[in-house]
Amino acid sequence: MKRRKEEELDARIDLFRRRIKDANDLKVRDDVFDTRTLMNLYYLSKKGYVEALGGSISRGKEANVFHALGRGGKHLALKIYRVATSDFKAMQDYILGDPRFRSVKGNKRSLVNAWTRKEYRNLLRAEEVGVRVPHPYAVRENILVMDFVGTDGAAAPLLREVALEGEEAERAYRRIADYIVLLHNRAGLVHADLSEFNILYDGEPVLIDMGQAVTLDHPNAMEFLKRDISNLVRFFRERYGIGSEDDIWSRIASEEKDAQMERGS
Ligand SMILES: Nc1ncnc2c1ncn2[C@@H]1O[C@H](COP(=O)(O)OP(=O)(O)O)[C@@H](O)[C@H]1O
Ligand SMILES: [Mg+2]
Repeated sequence: MKRRKEEELDARIDLFRRRIKDANDLKVRDDVFDTRTLMNLYYLSKKGYVEALGGSISRGKEANVFHALGRGGKHLALKIYRVATSDFKAMQDYILGDPRFRSVKGNKRSLVNAWTRKEYRNLLRAEEVGVRVPHPYAVRENILVMDFVGTDGAAAPLLREVALEGEEAERAYRRIADYIVLLHNRAGLVHADLSEFNILYDGEPVLIDMGQAVTLDHPNAMEFLKRDISNLVRFFRERYGIGSEDDIWSRIASEEKDAQMERGS
């Protein structure tokens, strides 16, 4: 009986392997799709989250992002963290200060898995307070399944790749500033890698890449918040001549006061 199951699993994994061979180049195939990752993909397909894997959208320092199709042909993005070639040291600094992940073991695979789960949770938490992010559907070890931001399978451009005109630049700036304030004051989170490289624009800004986002009790939370705010203002100042750090800081402070009053303290 066990035998049969294993054979079936092997066959499914082979199927993914062949599809991946068609869709992606050798390099991607070898260091992203180890057998364990293929099994995770198989699991996600069996559960109905993923029906087909598409082409590669991006290869970053720690993860690859792929286009995929879900139930009913829905467009999805799959972010697959690499276990073999991810920057273990850098990840540790962001995970060890987070009380949600205190029990994470010190080996690389469990750290990468915790990191992926952390991104999933951060996206959900951001969404709950009204920050626009790709909705995360599922997480399985090193694979995150989320909404695809774009149209007809073409990914939306990054904020840095679009030229916004007058009013639109104002609106985008204000929206992103709102998101920083909401994240801090309502979700208790700091994005910690916010810049024009981690914001997609499909008519409005969408924040992505939240694996490194930290809770406010992280020892470097304030430093990260400062960096996020200055990145945002620097970009909009240089390109559009708008934006003010003081403005964002005073909103963080005043809304914090409102929240304290609501709590009656
Ligand atoms: N949900 C998504 N929909 C469409 N494209 C995405 C999505 N998530 C990521 N991407 C694309 O993949 C790239 C890398 O994703 P990101 O989460 O920033 O990973 P990294 O950690 O490698 O920077 C992004 O710049 C964007 O172009
Ligand atoms: Mg990124």
